Amino acid sequence: VQDGNGVKGMVDLGLTKVPEPYVQPPKERIDKLNSRPCSLPPIDLSKLDGPEHDRVAEEIARAASTLGFFQVVNHGVPLELLEKLKDAAHSFFGQAPEKKAVYLKGASPSPLVKYGTSFVPEKEKALEWKDYVSMIYTNDADALQHWPKECKEASLEYLKTSVEMARKLMEVLMENLGAKPDQAKIDALIGLKMVNMNFYPICPDPELTVGVGRHSDLGALTVLLQDGIGGLYVKVEEDIENVAKKGEWVEIPPIDGALVINVGDTLQILSNGKYKSAEHRVRTTNTKSRVSVPVFTMPKPSEKIGPLPELVEREGAQFREVNSPPHNKEMAPSLDEGNSLFNFVVQ
Ligand code: SIN
Ligand code: FE2
Repeated sequence: VQDGNGVKGMVDLGLTKVPEPYVQPPKERIDKLNSRPCSLPPIDLSKLDGPEHDRVAEEIARAASTLGFFQVVNHGVPLELLEKLKDAAHSFFGQAPEKKAVYLKGASPSPLVKYGTSFVPEKEKALEWKDYVSMIYTNDADALQHWPKECKEASLEYLKTSVEMARKLMEVLMENLGAKPDQAKIDALIGLKMVNMNFYPICPDPELTVGVGRHSDLGALTVLLQDGIGGLYVKVEEDIENVAKKGEWVEIPPIDGALVINVGDTLQILSNGKYKSAEHRVRTTNTKSRVSVPVFTMPKPSEKIGPLPELVEREGAQFREVNSPPHNKEMAPSLDEGNSLFNFVVQ
């Protein structure tokens, strides 16, 4: 499977049946009919700067501590840039296979850039219906020259503006925990930044496949741009009055101009469990290919992650201290269940 063609290449050949390695076991398939969109309105971040600051801060903290996912508008990432990013993703994946193959693991001119397909944490798992390119940020301009030219400019601008927003959200979230929003601490939590472009080709039989299998993100905060196709589902951790019941999967509906924010394992640990790093997954469609563009933020590798001392003092530690990233596999947006958060819960 690891050639420049990816899943898209396979689909372009005129596939009419889902190849066996991509067929998910029944318990991992996504029952579209049995799920509804999350009705929570997007949060207007421009209001953080005005008289409604406290109300909006409280709304952000509530979202982070219930669903662990929310959408934001007036987020400071230019709307034209969002369009450019989606176009850039289509351009990158629309290229001839040999152009993309340049960035395959082992061939890539830079360890910061990786093109791939169907991330599978464990061999026995069915493959995901997805191609992606990952670009890790560094402030060394020379190293950035290897980012694919189809996406470099837009991705860098997106990274800069979305990290600025993530920083504000972190401030609000730390303050809500009763911690001083210390800039150095926030910088350390988002010391590593990565932009991914995901491409989910059309699938002849969406019922049988997943774009991304269930996982939680391991970083601090993820900022996600999704296009208008939809298909991102989140598992509800606890009842949310008038919105969703525990155990249900709700869809995060596409909202034009909005960005999706979600809490990762690192922030869940830091908050001693107050903020939820929710499991989520992506369905495939047979009508149109979907793109999404996440920015992941997390502490640099080997940085220590543990509950804030203020919280431990007050309520005792729910998690033990671990090295970042909070699991022992390659840094990737997908994680299997055996590796996620519960490994670090104090028994
Ligand atoms: C998405 O494509 O909407 C999310 C991808 C992910 O969580 O890995
Ligand atoms: Fe994710």
